[in-house]
Amino acid sequence: MKRSTLAAALAAATVMAVAPAAQAQQKLKVGLMLPYSGTYAALGTAIENGFKLYVAEQGGKIGGREIEYFKVDDESEPAKATDNVGKLIKRDNVDVIVGTVHSGVAMAMAKAAKDSGTLLIIPNAGAVAVTGPMCAENIFRSSFSNWQPGYAMGEVAAKKGMKKAVTITWKYAAGDESVGGFKEAFEKGGGQVVKELSLPFPNVEFQPLLTEIASIRPDVVYTFFAGGGAVKFVKDYAAAGLKKTIPLYGAGFITDGTLEAQGADADGLLTTLHYGDGLDNPKDKAFRAAYEKAYKVAPDVYAVQGYDAAQMLAIGLNATHGDVAKKAEFAKAVTAARIDSPRGAFTIGASHNPVQDMYLRQVIGKENKVIGIAAKALADPGAGCRM
Ligand code: PHB
Repeated sequence: MKRSTLAAALAAATVMAVAPAAQAQQKLKVGLMLPYSGTYAALGTAIENGFKLYVAEQGGKIGGREIEYFKVDDESEPAKATDNVGKLIKRDNVDVIVGTVHSGVAMAMAKAAKDSGTLLIIPNAGAVAVTGPMCAENIFRSSFSNWQPGYAMGEVAAKKGMKKAVTITWKYAAGDESVGGFKEAFEKGGGQVVKELSLPFPNVEFQPLLTEIASIRPDVVYTFFAGGGAVKFVKDYAAAGLKKTIPLYGAGFITDGTLEAQGADADGLLTTLHYGDGLDNPKDKAFRAAYEKAYKVAPDVYAVQGYDAAQMLAIGLNATHGDVAKKAEFAKAVTAARIDSPRGAFTIGASHNPVQDMYLRQVIGKENKVIGIAAKALADPGAGCRM
C-alpha cells in the first residue's frame, strides 16, 4: 500500500469508528402520543409507565442512545389525530412515535407514519387495518389486533355449546372488529349472533341496550369496552340483574386495570386476552415486582404492552447500532426475535402484529386469573398487507 493510500484508509477507518460514537451521543427523540385525559387516560399512563420501566432497566439508554421524550395528549380524539401526530413529526422531529390506545387515532397516526417514514410502534390500538392494508416496513404493534381476543372468545363460547349471542360495544373500529372476530369463530362453531348492539364512543348510557338484552334473552352476551366505560358497563350489567341470568363474556379489556373499581360486580366474568394474573413465568414475576416498586400499583395489560414496545425498539435499534433510518435491518431484527414478554414469549409476524397465546381468564377477587389457553400462538390474518 502506498503511504497516501494508507493514510486515507486510516482516516476512513477512524471516521467509521468515530461515527457510531458521535451518533450515540445524540439523544433518541421518542414521541409519546397517548390519551392522558378521557375514558382511556389510565391506559395511556400505564403504557408510558411500562415503556419507561424497560428504559430504566437498560440504564436509560436504547440502542446506545439516551432518550428525550416529547408528549402529546391525543384525548382519544380521531378528529385531532392528524394535527397531533404532525406536532411530533414536523415540530419535534422525533425519531420514533409510540402510540396510541384508540384505533381511530392510530389509523391517522399510521397514515402519517407511512407518508413521512417515521418509525411507529403501537402499544395498544388494535385497528386491523394498520397491520393489514395500511401495513408498512416502519409500523409495528406490541399489543394485539382487535380480531385476536374476539376470535378466541368466539371459539370458547361455541365450544361451551352456546347457540344464541348478543354483542354490545362502542361503534368504532375496535368494537366492530372485536365483535367481528367473535362472530366469525362463534358462527363457525355453530352459534349465531342474533343482535349487534352499539353506542357511540365514549358514551355510557347503557340502560336502553341492557333492556333490549333482557328482552332477547340470549345464551351469552359478548362485549368490548375498556377503561372508564368498562367499569361502568360491568356495574350497570350487574345492577340490571343480567349478571345472574345471562353470562357476560368479553375481550379481556372489560376487566383489565378495572377490578378495583368494579368490585364484586366483575366476580366470575370470563374473558380472553394475551395477559392475565398467575402466569407462572420468571419474566412476569420480575416485571411485576419492578413495576410495583416503581409505581406503587400492580401492572395491567397496558403496562405490559408499553414495556414490550420499548423492548421491540431496543431489539431493532441494537441491530442498527441506534440508527432509525435503517428500516429494513430494524424490521428484520424485530420479526426474527423471540420477545421475552411478561405475557410469555411471543413473535412479530410478517404484517408486524404479535403472534401470541390468547389466555382464558376468570375474575376471582381482584385478579384476572388465567385458567387456560383459549387459542395457542394466534396470528391475525393480516389480510391486505403488502410490505
Ligand atoms: C382500540 O381502540 O383499539 C382499543 C382501545 C382500548 C382497548 C383496546 C383496544 O383496551
